[in-house]
Amino acid sequence: MDRHPLQACTEKPVPGHSLATRLLIALALLLPLQPAAGDAILEGERHHPVKAKNGMVATSHTLASEVALEVLKDGGNAMDAAVTAGFALAVTQPRSGNIGGGGFMLYAPGNGGAVEAIDYRETAPAAATETMFQDEDGNVVPDRSRFTHKAAGVPGTVAGLAMALERHGTLSLEEALAPAIRLARDGFNVPDRFTEGLEQARERLQRWPATLDTFYKEDGSAWQPGERFRQPELAKTLQRIADEGIDGFYEGKTAQLIVDEMERHNGLITLDDLKNYRPQVRQPVHGSYRDHDIYSMSPPSSGGTHIVQILNILEGFPLSDFGHNSAAGIHHMAEAMKLAYADRAEYLGDTDFVEVPLDGLISKAYGESLRKTIDPDRARPASDIRAGDPGAWESPETTHFSIVDRWGNAVSNTYTINFSYGSGITVTGAGFLLNNEMDDFSAKPGEPNAYGLIGGEANKVEPGKRMLSSMSPTIVRRDGKNFLVTGSPGGSRIITTTLQVLLNVIDHDMNIQSAVSAPRIHHQWLPDEILIEQGISPDTVRLLEDKGHEVVPGSAMGAIQSILIDNEGTLHGGADPRRSTSSAMGY
Ligand code: DON
Repeated sequence: MDRHPLQACTEKPVPGHSLATRLLIALALLLPLQPAAGDAILEGERHHPVKAKNGMVATSHTLASEVALEVLKDGGNAMDAAVTAGFALAVTQPRSGNIGGGGFMLYAPGNGGAVEAIDYRETAPAAATETMFQDEDGNVVPDRSRFTHKAAGVPGTVAGLAMALERHGTLSLEEALAPAIRLARDGFNVPDRFTEGLEQARERLQRWPATLDTFYKEDGSAWQPGERFRQPELAKTLQRIADEGIDGFYEGKTAQLIVDEMERHNGLITLDDLKNYRPQVRQPVHGSYRDHDIYSMSPPSSGGTHIVQILNILEGFPLSDFGHNSAAGIHHMAEAMKLAYADRAEYLGDTDFVEVPLDGLISKAYGESLRKTIDPDRARPASDIRAGDPGAWESPETTHFSIVDRWGNAVSNTYTINFSYGSGITVTGAGFLLNNEMDDFSAKPGEPNAYGLIGGEANKVEPGKRMLSSMSPTIVRRDGKNFLVTGSPGGSRIITTTLQVLLNVIDHDMNIQSAVSAPRIHHQWLPDEILIEQGISPDTVRLLEDKGHEVVPGSAMGAIQSILIDNEGTLHGGADPRRSTSSAMGY
């Protein structure tokens, strides 16, 4: 249960920290950061990982964890469980689980074979234009890329999950969809967090009749904790996929319902856009950090690139000696984060459309050159920082779940509809929400998106292009074996959230639950401030301010669901207590 909208990264974030925002954050901080547990799995053992020998799932929703665990117990592999969880979350957690959005998945076989990335990010419709989110005077109209039918990119989730299952699973699509169809048709008893989410987003959601009909009771009130919530239209939509494969979504009745919805409201997605959508198999970003191999998501996500870049910068600093969340540790992390986010703004975009100097950005040499610019005693103002020159080092070199099966195969998946409940628009007759991922494009060079992220030419809107993401499904190997499976929602904070879990395990020797639960910090170059969660001490904050940092207490960041595999092959699950429905379960 998120106490305040700003605490949920899946809620609309507010990048600029206006006075009103600061007041809201201050108010949020008066409330406990960690909600009272509505989650028996974590209750009383928040910093102890869930342990198991044969299989483990960590998702943001208990029901999704349960159905995925059943698949593992029945002899299915990690991919079977992942695709089952992906569809189940689309039913049980409509704020981020989806079939109307997109995402990224990493698959690492337990036999040490090549790690594969599956990119099922949404694409811009063919009719999209570079200036579609600007008015006639060239001013950005933020609501257009967030809360209208033009906000939606062509959904990738159904094709992506189907492709992943086909490549690495053993179940049929029909079998993987069965639990989701059952949960949609027969319903489930809603947890507190479900009710709170709908109460908080009411104003935004209720303006769309299909959303009101689908997610609220007949009298317009929200379903209350413990009441049974059914989604008959979604059940039918999912059944069409079970019956006809991906054509049951990208063609035929569902496609027509999406296009009818678009045509009624000046949206852009056409039947051809849907028919032409293709997920892509990509090479993940690969780097190393203190004898660990890091695999994470490549463009069109910026996540893996900047995690590896920041790790390269930090590798030369004695983080473990500095101590976890010490002023010195936070200072060095924040300085490295700033440099990476400045590069993100300049260089990152969809590599099918633009050249990204990827090899340079993730090279050790570039990391070293950036490291040398960090003053151990002084914060460098963001205004002094510009993107670096990674080209000089070019050389051959929004809910997340993690699953590991008895063969050691690992799946790390992050997918999203962007904001909580995406655009808020439900496809009439089909029962699912559309994403507002188009806001992740740069509406105009230099203008921040909802997460305060700046972008430029590389991330401008182009037909068929994928908007830049921060999603960072990540798998770490040690001695060639899968070691850590992790990832998080959190908009711009996904990168730094995932990074800190890696550092907590590798540098600070924490168990996975402590690594997930520990307070986090975030810097994204602009705005020039370190955001901190509750739990960073006031004297640490003073030391950081003495170095010239502006430190801003913020809401909880991310919801990272992780699994660690130790040398004996025991699986340790760490679900993020920042979401009351998070759950790691093993057997
Ligand atoms: O792709 C991205 O980076 C964003 N659309 C992710 C949004 C997100 O994580 C929402 N918050 N939890």
